[in-house]
Amino acid sequence: MEHFIKVENIYHRFRQQENHNQWQQVLHDVSFHINQGECFGIVGESGSGKSTLGRILLGLIKPWKGRILFNGDQQYTKTRFWQRQLLSTIPVSAVFQDYTSSANPTFTIEQIIDEPLRGIIPRLSRQQRRQEIMQLLDYVGLSLSLLEHYPYQLSGGQMQRICIARAIANKPQFILLDEAVSALDVSVQVQLLDLLKNLQKELNLTYLFISHDLTAITYLCQRLLFLKSGKLIESVNDLTQLSQVTQSYSKRILNAVLEF
Ligand SMILES: Nc1ncnc2c1ncn2[C@@H]1O[C@H](COP(=O)(O)OP(=O)(O)OP(=O)(O)O)[C@@H](O)[C@H]1O
Ligand SMILES: [Mg+2]
Repeated sequence: MEHFIKVENIYHRFRQQENHNQWQQVLHDVSFHINQGECFGIVGESGSGKSTLGRILLGLIKPWKGRILFNGDQQYTKTRFWQRQLLSTIPVSAVFQDYTSSANPTFTIEQIIDEPLRGIIPRLSRQQRRQEIMQLLDYVGLSLSLLEHYPYQLSGGQMQRICIARAIANKPQFILLDEAVSALDVSVQVQLLDLLKNLQKELNLTYLFISHDLTAITYLCQRLLFLKSGKLIESVNDLTQLSQVTQSYSKRILNAVLEF
C-alpha cells in the first residue's frame, strides 16, 4: 500500500548570509512516512531544521535533493513548477506559531476567514461564503459576535482559533502544525490541542506537528521523530516506549519535560 505522505532522502542547504560562496547544510538525508489520519510529530531544538522541513513538505521550498510523495505520486520531482503542482494536487494547509503576523491586522475576523474561501473553485457566492464562515467559527468554538472584530480585539487563544478556522477553510487533507500552540499559556495550549484532536477526527485530517515542546507533541501524536542539526536521530513508534529512547539528545529533551 502507498503511504499517504512519504519523505525520501531530503537534503537542504542555504547560502550563508555573510559569505555567499558558503553553504549551510540544514537537512541531511531525512526520510519518513506519515499515514493517513495520524498525527506525526517531529521534535527538535531551535535551529534543528523543523520549519525548513515543514516548508518543503508544503511545497513552499524546493529541496536541494530528495523528494516528497503524496499518495505515491512522484510527479513533483525536478519540476520547475514544484510549488504550484504540489499545492494543486492535494489540499494542504498550515498553522504557525505567530498568529499575530499570520492575519492582516486591518481585516475583520470575517474578512480573514473569507480570504481562503474566495480562492476556492467553484466560486462560492457571498451568501455561501458567509454560511461557511459561520460553520468554521462553530468548528473552532468561537462566537459569531466576533465576526466584525479586528485581530487586536481578540486574545491569543481566540486568534489562534481563527488561524485554525482559516486553515481548515480549504478542506485540507493534511495540515502542518509548526509550533502551533507554543506561544500560548499552558491552559490555552491544552484547549487548542483538544480542539485540534477533535477536528482531526471530525474532518479526517492528517497532521504533521513540529515543535521543540515534547509535551505538546505527545498530547496529540502517535509516532514521533527526534531531529538534531538536520538529521533524524531516533524514532518512537509507540508512545508507551518513550522513556526507552537511547540517544543522549532525545534523553535530554525528554528529561527537560520530566523535570518540569
Ligand atoms: N531562508 C533562510 N535562509 C538562510 N538560512 C535559513 C533560512 N531559513 C532557515 N535558515 C537556517 O536554517 C537553520 C534551521 O532553521 P529552521 O527555522 O528550519 O529551524 P527550526 O528547527 O524551525 O528552529 P525553531 O525551533 O527556532 O523554529 C537555522 O540555522 C536557520 O538559521
Ligand atoms: Mg521553526
